[in-house]
Amino acid sequence: MAVRIAPSMLAADLGRLKDQVAAVVAGGADWLHVDVMDGHFVPNLTFGAPLIRALRKLTEVPLDVHLMVTEPEKYLAEYADLGVRVFTFHPEATTHVQRHLAAARERGMLAGLALNPATPLSLIEEVIPDLDLALIMSVNPGFGGQRYLPGATDKIRRLRMLLDGAGSSATLQVDGGITADTISTAFLAGADAFVAGTAVFGQADPAAAVRSLRSLCQPGAPT
Ligand code: DX5
Ligand code: ZN
Repeated sequence: MAVRIAPSMLAADLGRLKDQVAAVVAGGADWLHVDVMDGHFVPNLTFGAPLIRALRKLTEVPLDVHLMVTEPEKYLAEYADLGVRVFTFHPEATTHVQRHLAAARERGMLAGLALNPATPLSLIEEVIPDLDLALIMSVNPGFGGQRYLPGATDKIRRLRMLLDGAGSSATLQVDGGITADTISTAFLAGADAFVAGTAVFGQADPAAAVRSLRSLCQPGAPT
C-alpha cells in the first residue's frame, strides 16, 4: 500500500508560496492539498481557482482539492480545466452525489468524497464503485490546527473493511490534526493518504516534516 503525504496549503505562508511549495516538493510530498471553503458549508472562507492556477504554474505535483462548499458540482468543469487531479467534495453539501462523482471521472479527475465526523459511512456505501478516494475528516472542517478526534480511528478501520470487502482500491485519506503523534494510529487503522497542514508548514523545516511523517507510516510503528 503506497503512502501519500499531502501537505495542506491552508497552513502555508502564502506570501512565500513559491518557497513553501519548493520545500514540501523537496521533502517528497505526493500531492498538494488545497482546502476550498465558502463560508457557508464551513464557517471560514479560503481560496479557489486563483490559488489553484498559481500552484499549477509552480509544480507538477498533483493537486488534491478538498471542496468544503455547498454545490461543489459548480466547480467541476473549471477545476478540471485548471488541471486538478483529485476532486473531493462532501456528500452533505449536495444532492446527486453519484452524478458528480461520475462527472469528475469523465473530466479526467479522481473522484473523492469526504465525510464530516458526524456523518456515517452509510452515506458512501452505495457509491463505492464510483469512488477513487474516501476522506475521513478527523476534525470538524473549517480550520487548521485542531486536535485529531479519537473517534476517527475506528471509522477509518470500518471504512478500510468496507472498501476491502467491496474490492475497492480507493485511497483512504484522513484529514485534520495529523501530526507525528497521530499519523501512525491512522495508518495502522488503514489510512493510506494523510493531509497535514500545521504539522508540515508550522515546522521550521517543512521538507523534513514531510519525510518524518512518512517514516512514521510503517507496520509496527508506535501508536
Ligand atoms: C480542515 C481542512 C484541513 C486542514 C488540516 O478543515 O480540511 O485540510 O488544513 O489542517 P491541520 O493539519 O493543521 O489539522
Ligand atoms: Zn482538507
